[in-house]
Amino acid sequence: MAALVKNPFILTPFVPEEYFCDREKETALLCKHILNGRNVALFADRRLGKTGLIRHCFEQKDIKNNFNTFLVDIYSAGSLKEMTSLFAKEVFSTASSVTGLKDRLLKGIKSIKPTVEFNQLTSTVSFSAGIGDITEPERSLEEILSVLDSLKKPTVIAIDEFQTIRNFKESNVEAFLRTVFQKCKRCLFIYTGSINHSINNIFKSPDKPFYNSAVMMTIDVIDREVYREFAQRMFRSYGKDIDEGLVYKCYDYFDGITWYNQLLMNEAFAQTERGETIDEDSFDSVYEAIITQQDFSYRELFSRFSEKQKTLLMAIAREGKEGASVTSQDFMMRYSIGPTSSIQTACSALKKNNFITDNGSRKQITDLIFRDWLRKN
Ligand SMILES: Nc1ncnc2c1ncn2[C@@H]1O[C@H](COP(=O)(O)OP(=O)(O)OP(=O)(O)O)[C@@H](O)[C@H]1O
Ligand SMILES: [Mg+2]
Repeated sequence: MAALVKNPFILTPFVPEEYFCDREKETALLCKHILNGRNVALFADRRLGKTGLIRHCFEQKDIKNNFNTFLVDIYSAGSLKEMTSLFAKEVFSTASSVTGLKDRLLKGIKSIKPTVEFNQLTSTVSFSAGIGDITEPERSLEEILSVLDSLKKPTVIAIDEFQTIRNFKESNVEAFLRTVFQKCKRCLFIYTGSINHSINNIFKSPDKPFYNSAVMMTIDVIDREVYREFAQRMFRSYGKDIDEGLVYKCYDYFDGITWYNQLLMNEAFAQTERGETIDEDSFDSVYEAIITQQDFSYRELFSRFSEKQKTLLMAIAREGKEGASVTSQDFMMRYSIGPTSSIQTACSALKKNNFITDNGSRKQITDLIFRDWLRKN
């Protein structure tokens, strides 16, 4: 294997083929759905590899050769207008690489005045749309979709973090989106989200516009043995080695969640010299290094919470893996916090910004490394 990169444990959402671990069945299934013309709702726990799986599918020959593909992450959008802007950006940025797209965009989009730039060096025209250029989001979205619908190849549009639409300012967004998406004859949609209330509600409630509009698909953690084999293979292809004990220890510590596996392996790899083998005893030094790398940003983050939120975060972190039952008498006594009403207020603010998540009736710190940082401090 050619050593294209210094570290084979990739931490960005697009993982090149040779550094991508497994997901063979999931890739085959997602591709099959696309080839069968099905819309897909792909949802799973956080950080397991949903976005990575979609990008991986888009790189498969059957998909790459036969479809135009777009992925828009709408996590940061607070309105339909912002979503449309993100979508326009993604479509415009690929305008030159998709046959016929540029001309059609220029002709077909009346509601946005994109900024056109001519690059003299490469003789290429690029254009972009800022949020300020969008004044009629509904119309713009319809125009972009109808341009995509008119392309020679059919199009797959993945909308990442789709549950975000539930928090949009405008009303009836779901009904509107369902209607415009349904009008497309040659576009398929992949909706992704984390397993939570919202995404379930969007697709599983009979009274909601998106009900039954997509085949549901989920992914689990990568199999422990498969990941162990992958990790060792990556080390060995760079003339390094790792004992299986360390791979298992890292995997088990974070219940196999892909992002954490990759993060720990990336650091373990960095700490190993060529010709050396890293073993289980190095777990602490690997994990310490990761926590230390985050120290500055966690400190900054922590300083911005209110006193109540700080106390609550610390207390939840101490409860560990199972999470905390924050309004139980026992919890309030142990950490001397209360009353219930103020805990609930602090909790809902923390939950809204995704710092804590529900684990059944218990609360957990979402970022497990932040959890361990809190415990140490
Ligand atoms: N099959 C894989 N092989 C190697 N690395 C992977 C794989 N899948 C995902 N990753 C890595 O794990 C990280 C998390 O994956 P990804 O962002 O796809 O997860 P996600 O489920 O979309 O997370 P989120 O819930 O945060 O949106 C990525 O940074 C990527 O580098
Ligand atoms: Mg994602």
